[in-house]
Amino acid sequence: MAEYTNLQLDVQDGIAILSVNRPDKLNALNEQTIRELADAVREIGERADVGGVIVTGVGSKAFVAGADIAELAKMGPVDGVEVSRLGQRVFRAIELSRKPVIAAVNGFALGGGCELALACHLRIASENAKFGLPEVKLGIIPGYGGTLRLPRIVGKGRALELMLTAEMIDAAEAYRIGLANRVVPQAELLDAARGMMTGILRNGPVALGLAIECTTRGMEMSVDDGLALESNLFGLLAATEDMREGMGAFLEKRKANFQGR
Ligand code: COA
Repeated sequence: MAEYTNLQLDVQDGIAILSVNRPDKLNALNEQTIRELADAVREIGERADVGGVIVTGVGSKAFVAGADIAELAKMGPVDGVEVSRLGQRVFRAIELSRKPVIAAVNGFALGGGCELALACHLRIASENAKFGLPEVKLGIIPGYGGTLRLPRIVGKGRALELMLTAEMIDAAEAYRIGLANRVVPQAELLDAARGMMTGILRNGPVALGLAIECTTRGMEMSVDDGLALESNLFGLLAATEDMREGMGAFLEKRKANFQGR
């Protein structure tokens, strides 16, 4: 297990809680934090004792208030491409994780923080959460996949409204437009995320991973290609012990005991 400075990783009952830990900077993502996130995502993917991940921020004020503006301010065009590509790679690995990832958004999710939440499969927000892509205020655009993922989740009109106005929206509005799956009081946020994940992890693990893959890649291809992918993955699942177990359990009126094979 790796040691992290700007992250905390706790695993309990098959669920990893991955917290960005720079509360004095509202958990802003500097390069070191992004590199640690890459390591943590790899570690979580490889760990047999983790079925799903909850991403959150340390403290009660911020999930992640964006990329670290003090670092970004120094970049030139060549570094700019690299900064963006590094973050894109990490967030893409989260998006394509075969293990479900829930963002527990406990405060500001701005810029890169909003993009981190968008790369997660589900988002639960606390009542005090605020979402926004304020990059144009700084003279830049979202660079960690936000311009692609936000319109896929809330539609192009709402995505461009958020990006062009640079305004924040609260948790109720995020829920209304489909950006947040649920909104709960801040004191209940982690329990709500754990509860949701526990329910998810009762299902077949191979099926969970392929549902994520099929939905994510399916939205990036033509309907015909997506349907071909879906039928092939559907057929692949028919070769798993998990399918025999899930269907056998239903027919025998008992709980399934999935092995992820
Ligand atoms: N990058 C670097 N530092 C950040 C940061 C970021 N994205 N967001 C917050 N911080 C730092 C502040 O500079 C401050 O550090 P300091 O105490 O050393 O001066 C600390 O975190 C606390 O933030 P502060 O601005 O004092 O808190 P606030 O409650 O007054 O305002 C925000 C909160 C979120 C509205 C404000 O911090 C903000 O607008 N942050 C930037 C958001 C942004 O543009 N993100 C997109 C980046 S691409």
